[in-house]
Amino acid sequence: MKRAIISDVHANLEALRAVLADISRQEITAIYCLGDTIGYGPNPRECLDLVMAHCAVCLLGNHDEAVLYDPEGFSSAAERAARWTRKQLAPCSDDERSQARWDFLCRLPRFHRDGDRIFVHGSVRNPLSEYVFPEDVQDLRKMEGLFALIRRVAFQGHTHVAGIFSSQLRFVFPHEVPVGYPLGTEKVMINVGSVGQPRDGDARAAYVVYDDETVHFRRVPYAAQITADKIHAEQELDDFLGDRLLAGH
Ligand SMILES: [Fe+2]
Repeated sequence: MKRAIISDVHANLEALRAVLADISRQEITAIYCLGDTIGYGPNPRECLDLVMAHCAVCLLGNHDEAVLYDPEGFSSAAERAARWTRKQLAPCSDDERSQARWDFLCRLPRFHRDGDRIFVHGSVRNPLSEYVFPEDVQDLRKMEGLFALIRRVAFQGHTHVAGIFSSQLRFVFPHEVPVGYPLGTEKVMINVGSVGQPRDGDARAAYVVYDDETVHFRRVPYAAQITADKIHAEQELDDFLGDRLLAGH
């Protein structure tokens, strides 16, 4: 059974459509979304509609939470974007669609489990907010603490940097495993990267396909200039949020 795992769409409709098209050309049985479907980007309504229609599982991310409640510890650009997003999504009593989107957001879970696999936005220890960066493999205490909470495989997002944390305390970049990373009995944390705001120097949308044996990292080109133009045209969204899409970081 092949599954696609997407994360951090960040209201980037062009990237999400490109990824869904790429998924549709493979024999994928289910799509899971690890959160941050909204925040930063210009199309929160459309992205939520697509995720609601296509994803079997969708988790709550810290930016989704920030739209529902008050943003905490956000940069001013992220906070302004969250407040603007809230205005776009505010449910009106006479609009069923907007109420359905708001209800969907309110019901998002913080984690999902399939047997010995766990799915989170940030980390198994703090599903919403903890970042696990590639350089954290040098932090023995942090790695041991995280791996102690993992049965076999943890899928996560949040950093927007795709790759695999092996329990040998190594970070494996996607380009090191062009034919896929075999899943054995070893414990691993797999960061699926970001669909809508990659930050690893590659501007293409990132996501992961996996079956029970192997994880494949996918990159999909999309019309980032269109998304950036929409961001530049919206006063409440900082220009830098558009510029970074073109640069991929
Ligand atoms: Fe994110």
